[in-house]
Amino acid sequence: MTHPQNLRVVLASRPVGRPKATDFRVERAPIPEPAEGQVLLEVQTLSLDPYMRWRVSDEKSYAEPMQIGDVMVGGTVARVKTSRHPDWREGDIVLSSAGWQHYALSDGSGLRRLDPEMAPPSTALGVLGMPGLTAYVGLLNIGQPKPGETVVVAAASGAVGSVVGQIARIKGARVVGIAGGPQKCAFVKEELGFDVVVDHHAPDFAQKLAEACPDGIDVYFENVSGHVWDAVLPLLNDFARVPVCGLIANYNDGPADRRGPDRLPATMREILSRRITLQGFIVFDFPKEQEDEFLRVAGQWIREGKLRWREDVVDGLEQAPEALIGLLEGKNFGKLVVRVGD
Ligand SMILES: NC(=O)c1ccc[n+]([C@@H]2O[C@H](COP(=O)([O-])OP(=O)(O)OC[C@H]3O[C@@H](n4cnc5c(N)ncnc54)[C@H](OP(=O)(O)O)[C@@H]3O)[C@@H](O)[C@H]2O)c1
Repeated sequence: MTHPQNLRVVLASRPVGRPKATDFRVERAPIPEPAEGQVLLEVQTLSLDPYMRWRVSDEKSYAEPMQIGDVMVGGTVARVKTSRHPDWREGDIVLSSAGWQHYALSDGSGLRRLDPEMAPPSTALGVLGMPGLTAYVGLLNIGQPKPGETVVVAAASGAVGSVVGQIARIKGARVVGIAGGPQKCAFVKEELGFDVVVDHHAPDFAQKLAEACPDGIDVYFENVSGHVWDAVLPLLNDFARVPVCGLIANYNDGPADRRGPDRLPATMREILSRRITLQGFIVFDFPKEQEDEFLRVAGQWIREGKLRWREDVVDGLEQAPEALIGLLEGKNFGKLVVRVGD
């Protein structure tokens, strides 16, 4: 389907706490014309990711904040609709960063051609994309799981967590997933093949996690923070490694919400006495060669049936704000994407 106008979603106001639908605005604009050296991209699939909550805030972080009125940022799979660039042909399917809109111009930088024969193009936004790479580099560089060790991963049914757990199993670790609710837990255990899964909504969650980790925890892949971290910390073994990937339970908090009782001295005591390594990381901290290696290795695991994934597909760009709000509350089930085109 060709759209006569460019529908796009812009940031209308900076969310305070939980974002509201009115923090976003749907606009219509003329479809832009590519100049010499540019291509016009027609977006097919938009990735929704937790980092978007950081980008709409103006608190200091690893990335520049978006400005009010900017088109919402986001990874996309798009089709080259018109090309005035020597390297790109009409009909090419590309990984791109077109954001929350139907059409965008690109000068070709940052585009990656996708082969729909190799894998469904939307996997370039999930298992074979930024979330999969995050799992790979965070787990292998920082977590360094060894055969027989216990690896625990939070948000285990999600885009990053599902890949972390499956890689840890491939590396010979015993893998315990943490997920929210019976459906997600069943998926993690039965479809992804984790050894054990624990539901963090259960009233006795901390006790259940302790029972699931009789030898303690050697690697904890942190995606969530909050009450999940509280249950994990007492179980960490001497020399445990903690890749700090995400803290989604806190993303809607402002500075005032972070002024709780000061538990830092107690936490630091645990870190020192058990010689725990915590390392925060961002996916782009690692060399480009690791991304090439990841694409090669993960592609092979997928062909061998060792790496599986689940997508949560929302239809229509207008639904993106509510879907992002839901992602920050655990409403998605699998890698969240928006079908923008056909
Ligand atoms: N460092 C990096 O470079 C990098 C890159 C990509 C992603 N990340 C981080 O990795 C984490 C996972 O991202 P993803 O893309 O894979 O998302 P996802 O796991 O597909 O979706 C988010 C999941 O987080 C859980 N969640 C959401 N709100 C929560 C809350 N308030 N309390 C507890 N759990 C909550 C939910 O799972 P349950 O219902 O199972 O709890 C939800 O399904 C995020 O923290 C993200 O920021 C970091």
